Amino acid sequence: MDRLEFVPGQFTSFTEMIGGKEITRAYSLASAPSGNNRFELCLNRVEAGHLSPRLFDMQPGDRIQMLQPLGMFVLRQPPRDSILIATGTGIAPFRSMLQAHLKTSSCAFTLLFGVRYESHLLYRQEFEEMARVHANFRFWPTLTRPDSGWTGRLGRVQAHLTEAIGLLGDRRDVDFYLCGLKEMVDETRVLLKSQGFDRKQIFYEKYD
Ligand SMILES: Cc1cc2nc3c(=O)[nH]c(=O)nc-3n(C[C@H](O)[C@H](O)[C@H](O)COP(=O)(O)OP(=O)(O)OC[C@H]3O[C@@H](n4cnc5c(N)ncnc54)[C@H](O)[C@@H]3O)c2cc1C
Ligand SMILES: NC(=O)c1ccc[n+]([C@@H]2O[C@H](COP(=O)([O-])OP(=O)(O)OC[C@H]3O[C@@H](n4cnc5c(N)ncnc54)[C@H](OP(=O)(O)O)[C@@H]3O)[C@@H](O)[C@H]2O)c1
Repeated sequence: MDRLEFVPGQFTSFTEMIGGKEITRAYSLASAPSGNNRFELCLNRVEAGHLSPRLFDMQPGDRIQMLQPLGMFVLRQPPRDSILIATGTGIAPFRSMLQAHLKTSSCAFTLLFGVRYESHLLYRQEFEEMARVHANFRFWPTLTRPDSGWTGRLGRVQAHLTEAIGLLGDRRDVDFYLCGLKEMVDETRVLLKSQGFDRKQIFYEKYD
């Protein structure tokens, strides 16, 4: 691959021979296309995992086979007002989308981000800054296992969905993008459908 080309929301894959087997795993690009082949990733080390510990142990100068980015988890074109819902490293594609679209898009984006602890709020400062600068962006982090000092939102992302939908009034011409833990994605899709949203306006990517 000479030129890294991708649409925000897509993932690349890394392949390595491990224990005599070719192991390939997908990773979302966590930054917007830069035009210069540089990119960022947002990774969890899965302790018992095959590939992710390898990625964490890489040193400058090490090489790994990387595949051309792919994937359908991208913003509808043209984008509409959207609610973006992430758990953990599921935040990665949303960072890429927001970096790429917020400056030029007038659509309203609400980012609902669920993690266990305050220290797991990846890119927190960056999203807070985006929310300060862009009136069309809301950042709603929520913690499931907060310290006593946390005064923000509590509980899983589903607990805040009704409020986010409520801000839309009676409108139904919005999109939902879900990324992260499989169970979160499955449960949230059921919730959205029970509130009358169509599967065609619910986009998702499951990580586990
Ligand atoms: C489209 C797509 C995009 C992805 N993007 C990212 C990304 O941006 N960042 C990222 O960190 N991961 C991402 N993932 C997950 C990633 O592809 C791997 O599944 C993950 O790194 C584990 O791989 P492994 O080889 O280390 O573990 P494996 O050897 O595959 O798994 C070992 C054990 O860990 C469990 N496990 C697998 N995945 C996870 C997980 N994510 N969290 C906790 N436990 C897990 C498995 O059930 C298994 O029991 C993405 C997955 C998909 C499908
Ligand atoms: N060392 C680090 O800095 C670091 C950072 C991130 C992750 N990790 C580790 O990596 C592993 C995977 O991390 P992860 O961030 O992908 O996932 P995670 O930490 O297991 O979960 C992320 C968030 O999703 C919530 N969640 C779980 N099931 C859900 C569901 N069905 N619906 C909605 N929300 C749900 C979790 O709430 P609950 O608390 O209720 O489970 C948590 O708030 C974990 O073992 C984690 O500890 C380590």
